Amino acid sequence: MDYSSRTVLVSGGAEGIGFAIAKALGTEGMNVVLGDINGQSLQKALTQLEALQINCTGLVMDVAKADDWQRAVALATERYGALHALINNAGVGGKPGPIENNTRADWQWCIDVNLIGVVQGMQAAVPQIKQAGGGFIVNVASMAGMMGVPYGGEYTATKLAVAGLSEAWAVELAPYNIHVAALCPAFVSTNIHLSERNRALTHGQTTTAEEIELPDPDSVMSQVVTNGINPDLVGQRVIEALNAKEHYIFTHPNYRKVVQQRYAAIDAAFERAESSPIVGHLSSEPLDAFVPQ
Ligand SMILES: NC(=O)c1ccc[n+]([C@@H]2O[C@H](COP(=O)([O-])OP(=O)(O)OC[C@H]3O[C@@H](n4cnc5c(N)ncnc54)[C@H](O)[C@@H]3O)[C@@H](O)[C@H]2O)c1
Repeated sequence: MDYSSRTVLVSGGAEGIGFAIAKALGTEGMNVVLGDINGQSLQKALTQLEALQINCTGLVMDVAKADDWQRAVALATERYGALHALINNAGVGGKPGPIENNTRADWQWCIDVNLIGVVQGMQAAVPQIKQAGGGFIVNVASMAGMMGVPYGGEYTATKLAVAGLSEAWAVELAPYNIHVAALCPAFVSTNIHLSERNRALTHGQTTTAEEIELPDPDSVMSQVVTNGINPDLVGQRVIEALNAKEHYIFTHPNYRKVVQQRYAAIDAAFERAESSPIVGHLSSEPLDAFVPQ
């Protein structure tokens, strides 16, 4: 992968995984453009990158807003001449809990940030990356993009969508020399469990910062996230996987067995369909598969 003097746009790059990836790519020589909804964290992040001698700039943006993406791409191309890469990272945890507790507004927030935000990032950045002659895109999905997570419906729905879209886009954009990967971490020690802090900054939500309901620090979700791996490991792993042109980037090999169990259940269901007198005759029909190579 060619990084030196190339330019990457990182959404949600002010904190957590986005910041760690920005730092790793900046250390490889890339110009870094951070887009984030939180102006204060953004300023801090830029100061930290500058201290590492990384060329960087940033803007306050909401990934749910298409115009904000246009501003982000314009900033990158005006400042550095071209855009070669996108880390479609900004995301929120949604509202975990039983199905009946989630309102339409809860769903809308999670879908707008985690899914529409990623789609709009692609739509804004891909024409520029094509124009630059190619590059790479990492869409941040999750281990929740590899399996259904009970009590995490909104999050699972958006992350499975991002993983699936990344497979489709990898095939679609390969002819343009654009490598597309889905990053699928399990728990990483960030502030994702405190995502409600960002909802007040989006969606015309009228809640003040003091009124935001944040989870109990002793809750299971808070505990598993804070005990997650260091985001810097994710940043370094992304570089390693990009160098190897991987399409699925995993950071937690211990989850392999869980994903294998899911595939085993799917495979067993295919076997039952194969032996079904109703549809079994389709087993031998040839077809072309669209799998990223
Ligand atoms: N932390 C984990 O355990 C974990 C695991 C798997 C996947 N992920 C994914 O990693 C990505 C980054 O999350 P994180 O863990 O670093 O969380 P985080 O909350 O620490 O960081 C998220 C960043 O995105 C920004 N952001 C939130 N909403 C935004 C919006 N509408 N527009 C622009 N910026 C916005 C926040 O201000 C913050 O800087 C997310 O897509 C998340 O789903 C996280």
